[in-house]
Amino acid sequence: MEKQTHIAVIGLGYVGCVTAACLASLGHRVFGVDRDEHKVREIRNGRAPFYEPGLEELVRENTAAGRLSASTSADAIGETDIVLVCVGTPSEKNGNLGLHQLRRAVSEIAAQLGGRAKPLAKPLIVGIRSTVFPGTCEEVVAPGFAAGTAVSVVSHPEFLREGSAVRDFFEPSLLVIGGADRASIERVAGLYQPLGVKASLVSLRTAEMIKYASNSFHAVKISFANEIGALCEEVGVDGHEVMATLCEDVKLNISPAYLKPGFAFGGSCLPKDLRALVYRAARLDLSLPLLESAMPSNERHLKRAIDAVLDLPAAQRIGVIGLAFKEDTDDLRESPAVMLLEQLIGKGRDVKVFDPRIRLDAIYGSNRNFIVETVPHIGRLLTSSLEQILEWADHLVLVQKQAAEAMEQIQASRLPVLGLVNGSFREASARSGPSGPAVLRAVN
Ligand SMILES: NC(=O)c1ccc[n+]([C@@H]2O[C@H](COP(=O)([O-])OP(=O)(O)OC[C@H]3O[C@@H](n4cnc5c(N)ncnc54)[C@H](O)[C@@H]3O)[C@@H](O)[C@H]2O)c1
Repeated sequence: MEKQTHIAVIGLGYVGCVTAACLASLGHRVFGVDRDEHKVREIRNGRAPFYEPGLEELVRENTAAGRLSASTSADAIGETDIVLVCVGTPSEKNGNLGLHQLRRAVSEIAAQLGGRAKPLAKPLIVGIRSTVFPGTCEEVVAPGFAAGTAVSVVSHPEFLREGSAVRDFFEPSLLVIGGADRASIERVAGLYQPLGVKASLVSLRTAEMIKYASNSFHAVKISFANEIGALCEEVGVDGHEVMATLCEDVKLNISPAYLKPGFAFGGSCLPKDLRALVYRAARLDLSLPLLESAMPSNERHLKRAIDAVLDLPAAQRIGVIGLAFKEDTDDLRESPAVMLLEQLIGKGRDVKVFDPRIRLDAIYGSNRNFIVETVPHIGRLLTSSLEQILEWADHLVLVQKQAAEAMEQIQASRLPVLGLVNGSFREASARSGPSGPAVLRAVN
């Protein structure tokens, strides 16, 4: 780690003051800037400007040791190695993010850079800790610096929780640094080396987006638990016991399972059980908007996929790979691939389908009957081998993950592929790899 990195922190609110005091306690020299005289005075006097457990002690120790200072003026920024911008990004009336504090902070930093004595060997790193929408660093922050200024913009979102912010700094749930310049993001990651935490080094826009994805996920988790709890109460079940037991499943429930963008869900259980739960809740006069929205959300996702396939040139022959509701089964109940095919047939598209587990000459019982009696129009589109469909098609639509050997064959065909299995609704050439290993989120 570089000893005594000189860091400026712009904005000394919950995020900025905690960041400044904690970085100073790791041995860095931190200079805090805020337009609020009260906050600056409090820090100079060794006091935290608001209540946050453990913060007062850190501010006192580090100001006394000379590692933490504060000012209402950004004059000393020109002497620092890294500037961390922690200003507020409050909601505007329409819900959009207000960037006026950020724009002003950027222009103040830019104004100070003209005062740098000589060009630095390394660029000044400007890290955005404020929560900003993807593209803000590229479209708002970077253009704020004159061309030719040696500035490297990185996104370094904050994940602390008020009330445990100091502990969260020293034991972060996630440490994300994004940017185009590898040396810059590694330098920011180096600040945290004493914590022994692995930093996630990603692109600028990914770093910005992770913050929104995380906060949305937390909001959805809380709403989910509250809705399940409310339903439990109505039906005389202990909601805490239900959720605690649900959390004991670390394979499917509390795990990365079902957390990749992919195709719509289907199958014999998820749609049926969601419908039953929502129906029963409605009969109890219980509104559960999050759970009620899961099926419409899935239908909307399927519609996006169908629209993407319909966007393919009308005269082209479309080969759909995967028909069952997920790979390695021949179960067709509520398969989104069936719904996709029905739409394509209805629009008069020239389409065929292949599924390694569904060959009319090989399947039997209820699934064969289902094809022959309920969806004979789809049964007629089935091809019996991958080679056959690759030979016939102009475009492939991949709705299921295929075995490695089949993926190689698809790639070798050089056909353009729409990889719905990856949640990607843009066509890619098979030459560049039609699909990664994402799984179809259609589960039993
Ligand atoms: N509070 C949280 O728990 C939390 C957690 C993670 C991320 N965030 C995000 O971090 C950002 C900051 O949040 P916060 O809660 O610390 O905000 P805050 O309102 O508490 O603090 C922002 C500070 O920036 C100062 N400021 C504004 N413009 C300035 C300028 N040009 N120069 C100097 N100082 C300036 C303000 O005076 C204020 O003290 C927001 O984008 C927020 O969404 C907040």
